[in-house]
Amino acid sequence: MKTSALILAAGAGTRMKSSKPKVAHTIMEKPLVRWVIDAAKTAGVDEVVTVVGHGRDVVEPLVSDTSVVVQEEQLGTAHAVRIAQSAIELAEGSLVVLTGDSPLITAETIKSLIDTQQAEQAAVVVLTMHADNPFGYGRIIRDEAGQVCGIVEQKDCTPEQTQITECNSGFYCFDAKVLFEVLEEVSTNNAQNEYYLTDVLALAYERGMKVIGVEAQDSSECLGVNSRSQLAEATAHLQQRINRAHMDAGVTIMDPRTTWIGPDVTIESDVEILPVTFLYGTTSIKEGSVVGPNSRLTDTTVGRNCTLEETVAIEAQIDDEATCGPRAYLRPGAHLCEGAKAGTHVEIKKSTIGKGSKVPHLSYIGDATVGSNVNIGAGTITCNYDGEKKWSTVIGDDCFIGSDCMLVAPVTIGENSLLGAGSVITKDVSAGALGLGRARQVEIAHWNENKKNKKQD
Ligand code: UD1
Ligand code: CA
Repeated sequence: MKTSALILAAGAGTRMKSSKPKVAHTIMEKPLVRWVIDAAKTAGVDEVVTVVGHGRDVVEPLVSDTSVVVQEEQLGTAHAVRIAQSAIELAEGSLVVLTGDSPLITAETIKSLIDTQQAEQAAVVVLTMHADNPFGYGRIIRDEAGQVCGIVEQKDCTPEQTQITECNSGFYCFDAKVLFEVLEEVSTNNAQNEYYLTDVLALAYERGMKVIGVEAQDSSECLGVNSRSQLAEATAHLQQRINRAHMDAGVTIMDPRTTWIGPDVTIESDVEILPVTFLYGTTSIKEGSVVGPNSRLTDTTVGRNCTLEETVAIEAQIDDEATCGPRAYLRPGAHLCEGAKAGTHVEIKKSTIGKGSKVPHLSYIGDATVGSNVNIGAGTITCNYDGEKKWSTVIGDDCFIGSDCMLVAPVTIGENSLLGAGSVITKDVSAGALGLGRARQVEIAHWNENKKNKKQD
């Protein structure tokens, strides 16, 4: 049977007190709505539709891999679903509805909602949770037989109903056909004058249809982010969940409290992560490498047995046995080949540092291709920018670049050549040559003596 997922992400999120739409706020550099969409995709749904509205210019690009529907006016969750109907391809089948502000939901839980709905041929299965502080959540109402017969929103609760601790997570799996039929009957007759999706449950129950409440095994999965403190709470849960999974898979994390690993990062066993380290995006690290302390890697690949100390790397490639830092900055397009080194206070951008080559101290290498077994002396700079355009530098294999050289691009240094320390190199240097580009040293003899004699005159 076909299954679609509908993500509700049109609300303003006023309680965040932000100029940014709520679902665009991030946890470990990943927007809230993306956590939900990716969980739905991992659960194996056939299509994903996202309802956007408030701040849609910001939200739309984040969800561009889904079908997007615009809800111009946010008249409530039921209104959002009704608007999405035209974009949902399936005529019948299962429709999972997820709130875009609940990033802890897992693919397994979404799958179990779908499985239950299909196995029981239910009109709707709702995920419920017991909350110590249920304030703000819709309350689950059960009949004498214990079956779910409705949901009452906080603002519509009687004093007795506010005592109920079983709450609506905002995650459901509906029989799509039933949902769109019943949706027609939802009105705005409530405290907020909104169309509540939650009313569908009572309407289906009254029609004698099967309405099922499944309690979440881990209630933290249902945490909705409505405020900055809930954002911090959700972040802490996800940090723990992810770190634990990596440790279970054989990764050493010395201090899990100061280690932040995004959900799409892959780490092989026997990698060691030292304190205050952030691994984000699609970063991957192979076995035997040590990363940290004080490091941040985004969308970076790290090979086997590398050492990265106090390193910031963005869209960089670091091959086996390479070393970085302390205090290295690898910017997009930096590629350290096998055994290469980017040492202390070194910045590398859009450059390849060949096999076994070393840039140990205080250098800027940009738009350069450096061959293998090259040694680049302290303080070397590729002058790649003339104020208008970027130019490239090529350094052949086995070169020795003396300290404090300026390589004014475009320039090519032939293989196995040597540049004298302090040179400003503006012309190509042939293979095997010595390139010198500095003023000759002069010496004026007896300088101090002559000075003293002059004073005495
Ligand atoms: C909703 C549920 C509540 C549940 C809680 C769980 C309703 C009426 N209430 O309440 O029972 O306990 O979630 O977190 O459904 N949205 C739209 N368009 C709209 C309104 C909302 O897309 O017109 C989106 C929001 O962006 C958000 C989601 O729907 O992602 C839920 O809306 P929100 O206002 O946060 O509902 P809650 O008050 O949290
Ligand atoms: Ca909410």
